[in-house]
Amino acid sequence: MTDLSTLQAPGTQAPHARRRTFAIISHPDAGKTTLTEKLLYFGGAIQLAGEVRAKQGRRQTSSDWMKIERQRGISVVTSVMTFEYGGHVFNLLDTPGHEDFSEDTYRTLTAVDSAVMVIDAAKGIEDRTRKLFEVCRLRDIPIVTFINKVDRETRDPFDLINEIETTLALDVAPMTWPVGRGRDFAGTYDLKANTFRRNQKGDETAQDRRVNGWDDPFFDETLPDGAAETWREEVFLASEGLKPFDLQAFREGHLTPLYWGAALRDYGVRDLIDALGAYAPSPRAQVADKRAVEAGEPKMTGFVFKIQANMDPNHRDRIAFMRVCSGKLTRGMKAKLVRTGKPMPLNAPQFFFARDRSIAEEAYAGDIVGLPNHGTLRIGDTLTEGEEIVFKGVPSFAPEILRRVKLKDAMKAKKLREALQQMAEEGVVQLFLPHDGAPAIVGVVGSLQLDVLKERMEVEYSLPIDFEPCQFSIARWVSSDDKAALAKFVGAKPSAMADDLDGDPVFMASSQFTLKYDAERAPGVTFSDVKDYQ
Ligand code: G4P
Repeated sequence: MTDLSTLQAPGTQAPHARRRTFAIISHPDAGKTTLTEKLLYFGGAIQLAGEVRAKQGRRQTSSDWMKIERQRGISVVTSVMTFEYGGHVFNLLDTPGHEDFSEDTYRTLTAVDSAVMVIDAAKGIEDRTRKLFEVCRLRDIPIVTFINKVDRETRDPFDLINEIETTLALDVAPMTWPVGRGRDFAGTYDLKANTFRRNQKGDETAQDRRVNGWDDPFFDETLPDGAAETWREEVFLASEGLKPFDLQAFREGHLTPLYWGAALRDYGVRDLIDALGAYAPSPRAQVADKRAVEAGEPKMTGFVFKIQANMDPNHRDRIAFMRVCSGKLTRGMKAKLVRTGKPMPLNAPQFFFARDRSIAEEAYAGDIVGLPNHGTLRIGDTLTEGEEIVFKGVPSFAPEILRRVKLKDAMKAKKLREALQQMAEEGVVQLFLPHDGAPAIVGVVGSLQLDVLKERMEVEYSLPIDFEPCQFSIARWVSSDDKAALAKFVGAKPSAMADDLDGDPVFMASSQFTLKYDAERAPGVTFSDVKDYQ
């Protein structure tokens, strides 16, 4: 059965049902930043498009470690932006574009209910889009597709649709069709509502022109001479020959509604926001160890998916990004941090807007709040009003690069350990403490994380460090239902074993060959390259 609950008038819904929490996935350069700016602009969260970029620029200058980001021209920070439009509250979680920060991106995707996949009309599906799509698929995250840059030379639209269907094994339902392409791009035609939209923000209804089907002479006037006929053939094929939209198939992740536009020139952006409001799911049930938690439940629950050090290096406080999963978070309430069992007053929860932060007096399921703390909260932490549950699925991935940390000033070993621990709790690196007492090993998924670590250790902790190669290149979490078998394996290999931040055993190997060799000789022991935070 199709669930039509979110298609009711937004004003009649519970606060959580008005929320749309989503991320944008794309290959670098497809237009994610531009689209983000335009979504915020249409949502009234920023006055002038361009402020997302401008803000990033300001933030970079306010924090030294962001120098790396500046130098390399990439965004390494995940942030969240909230705006309201058409009665809905949109929480857009930004994800870093660089491959090295994929771990951060994956964690962010655990906190969204839907995603917008941005594709460059000239390039089609690119490598990184495909990878991120696979993560969404693993988590059954419904995807809305936006084909961008239609104001430029594009590939054939059917060719693009075919590519999405075949490479991603995903049905495509076109919802709009571009009226002209490249220099002739004039707007979008809504295949169902029979309306034509130009691009401008402003008096929105005045921009929508009801047309009398695709036969309307309006299209002959709008398109260049002779082009209307071909366009009508395309629209006919798109309406009759491709999949019709099916809400349930979309929600289950089998079908993507497709929109066309040019974010830079505001085309198609409103189509996209309307689609998110109408079709994207409101906050979904979240799976915890003991049960699934429904967004509409009265008691507050949430999980931390990201920690970000405060931009002010003089203060060691950090912001934990928590997704509220159910109930209502009220400023000043006492939550329980399930990992420690201790109460945690939520005195200054924060909301993020395009430009600012503000104190959150209340937040609902689907909202992302920032919780300032001095190291109490970790990635994967669950907060509740007392219930002993732990949300699942904020993953940690086995690092691809392992390095020993070399301290230039040996007197500062204790400080180093503390600083590394904090960086690991923040998710900047993973920290492994070898059982044989050898110096700590850090693990990263991409080498850029090492640069960030080095820079931050120097700027924030006055600890100049270097990295030395270590004999290991692979790390795997080991576990077993057979405690004795695990203890035997761990005990036999002190020089290849380490504890991670949570004290869980990690086996390190110098090559795939040794990993395979040792794994074959340890029946009943599981070697895993992914671990859920606990
Ligand atoms: P990203 O975040 O996905 O990496 O992409 P971003 O928005 O930065 O866009 C990449 C480039 O594509 C930018 O140009 C941007 O202006 C351009 N672009 C984005 N959307 C559209 C569109 O709809 N039509 C056209 N024609 N171009 C678009 P740039 O020259 O690399 O950067 P900039 O100097 O304009 O900032």
